[in-house]
Amino acid sequence: MERLDKILASQGTLSRRDVKEIMKKGRVSVNGTVVKDSSIKVDIYKDEVCLDSEKITLKKHIYIMMNKPQGVVSASEGEKEETVVDLVPDEFYRKGLFPAGRLDKDTTGFVLITDDGDFAHKILSPKNHIFKTYLARLDHELSESDIRMLENGITLGDGTILKEAKVEIVEQSDTPLVKIMICEGKYHQVKRMFAAAGNRVVALHRSKMGELELDSALNPGECREITPEELQKIQKI
Ligand code: URA
Repeated sequence: MERLDKILASQGTLSRRDVKEIMKKGRVSVNGTVVKDSSIKVDIYKDEVCLDSEKITLKKHIYIMMNKPQGVVSASEGEKEETVVDLVPDEFYRKGLFPAGRLDKDTTGFVLITDDGDFAHKILSPKNHIFKTYLARLDHELSESDIRMLENGITLGDGTILKEAKVEIVEQSDTPLVKIMICEGKYHQVKRMFAAAGNRVVALHRSKMGELELDSALNPGECREITPEELQKIQKI
């Protein structure tokens, strides 16, 4: 059971204030009874919610694309430090949101925040080969043989196996910008891969999940809802 005002506001078209207004005016009913108390709790699977007598199909889950800023942790709410879920505005907020996959505190870019555990599992499982694309600014040049090594996959000193990656130099310089695509998300994976090649990541940004690019209109800390078509782009490889 969830608060009706929260659920209505999380559908994407009405703000919390709009919801209060329309409820006060008696335009919302639950199972045929007009409800004016915006704190009332409903079950989105069972209760029939109507606006102006028209049934509203409540979305089961929400999928949010955030451009994570530096200095924020990829975790749910209630941590000591500020988290990506703390940055989600009221209009998209609902209980149970979490980031599907973690970026380091100093990594920026695409974080998908959802309340759909099955979907998160699907896109994160290495079995499904959904590539996450990162742009890494490196401390110094990366040789052709280093690229080949990363592309073949590596075993770290502690026995951790990091599967093959796709690696491409985007900008050649003393501190090159490198695109790296990986389909697993082990702890500090990209940083550890370049470290294994004797290099160091000085800045890291996730630009894409599956075939879905981070929306360039989103400033750091901003987010928007992902459309159903875009969700398909994440899963389609
Ligand atoms: N790999 C890393 O090393 N850090 C991230 O934040 C993501 C992938």
